[in-house]
Amino acid sequence: MQKLALLGGKPVSKKPLPQYNSIGKEEKRAAMKVMREKNLSGFVGRAGKYFLGGKYVKELESKFCRHFKVKYAVSLNSASTALQAAVGALGIGPGDEVITSPYTMTATASAILFNNALPVFADIEEDSFCLDPESIEKNITKRTKAILVVNILGSSADYGPILKIAKKYNLKVIEDNSQSPGATYKGKFAGTIGDMGIFSFNVHKVIQCGEGGMLVTNNKDYAFRAQLIRNHGEAVINDLYKSKKYYMPILGNNYRLSEIHAAIAIEQFKKLNRLNKGRIILADYLTKKLSQFNWLAPPLVFKNSVHVYYGYGFKFLPEKIGIKRATFIKAMKAEGFELVNGCEDPVHLMPIYQKQQIYPNSRFPFISKEYPHKVSYKKGICPVTEKMSEKELLETTICQPPQTKKDIDLFVAAAKKIEQNIEDLKKYEKA
Ligand SMILES: Cc1ncc(COP(=O)(O)O)c(C=O)c1O
Repeated sequence: MQKLALLGGKPVSKKPLPQYNSIGKEEKRAAMKVMREKNLSGFVGRAGKYFLGGKYVKELESKFCRHFKVKYAVSLNSASTALQAAVGALGIGPGDEVITSPYTMTATASAILFNNALPVFADIEEDSFCLDPESIEKNITKRTKAILVVNILGSSADYGPILKIAKKYNLKVIEDNSQSPGATYKGKFAGTIGDMGIFSFNVHKVIQCGEGGMLVTNNKDYAFRAQLIRNHGEAVINDLYKSKKYYMPILGNNYRLSEIHAAIAIEQFKKLNRLNKGRIILADYLTKKLSQFNWLAPPLVFKNSVHVYYGYGFKFLPEKIGIKRATFIKAMKAEGFELVNGCEDPVHLMPIYQKQQIYPNSRFPFISKEYPHKVSYKKGICPVTEKMSEKELLETTICQPPQTKKDIDLFVAAAKKIEQNIEDLKKYEKA
């Protein structure tokens, strides 16, 4: 039996894993073309033809509409601003609550706060790591206006029961689909199941243009309001008002995507299926191989659905193997494989929610005339998320090309070596 690298033996692999890269010559060519054309942004912040952007922005949006079979796509300069626009498009504001997941990136919940409404955190499911429908229902009050669901790590959430709850309580559903472009839930694209869906093109995503985002919807009013928010809504409303059309004033900003970013995103979008497929092949292979370990649990894939594995999130079951997750991470690192706690900071436990204060002289929107209630962000409100964060969840990039099945074989060999040497590792942990 080979000695563990953590205890002085030879590592299974010495080769650092190469970084994922989706950018090729097509994107470079597209960016240069925009430079040559010398029109880096087609937007004009007045009512009229160019209020909706330049030719690359419009092409990217229509490509999204065609591919995802939605009526409207509104590009924005990030998923964060797209989320903010989605909440704003629903007219959500002071005194309103939006239920969301604590297992996400801060931007999801911040989008609610930016609209002066209150995020309420429901718990996640043990196996999909997405919002648990039962927990959503328990958190509904008469102030709840929407559910902001997060399709985490390339999965979708369990939309069957979520949509039933939304219908029962007359709630809108926004999907934060930043991590799951191309995933499906029972035959439907994630991001197109709720009232609005959000995509991200930031540098870490499967397809990227540096920074960028997209909002998709089948609702004309939501699309229009999102377009207003993207482009200094007030200014445009003034023009429309003069032409005797009246719209509810809306606070907008500059959330526009530039032509260069859109041109790069168009090329990336052409590669989406191929890039997702590469990950799916590796992830399916790893899932099969992990079945030999009763102390590791692969991610759930819903029936008749497609997971696109933005990250491969899986569970480490400490009681089944008798060591802590931190020790396993350390031992795998010594064998040559970096693993991370997939849920480092559950959002409800972050300082902004613990302090419930954003401004020096006010507790708005946590406590206000419009919101004379109390929302709890105490540790313990989301026990499954907290358990995942503290003990169980793991994430690996081993399923991202250019990694190969051979790399996965070595990754699994490292886990096997740890299992075979578990008694040594238990002693190491105690020492
Ligand atoms: C789930 C989720 N939501 C929102 C965002 C924000 O995306 P962006 O960087 O495009 O604003 C991210 C980015 O990491 C994310 O993973």
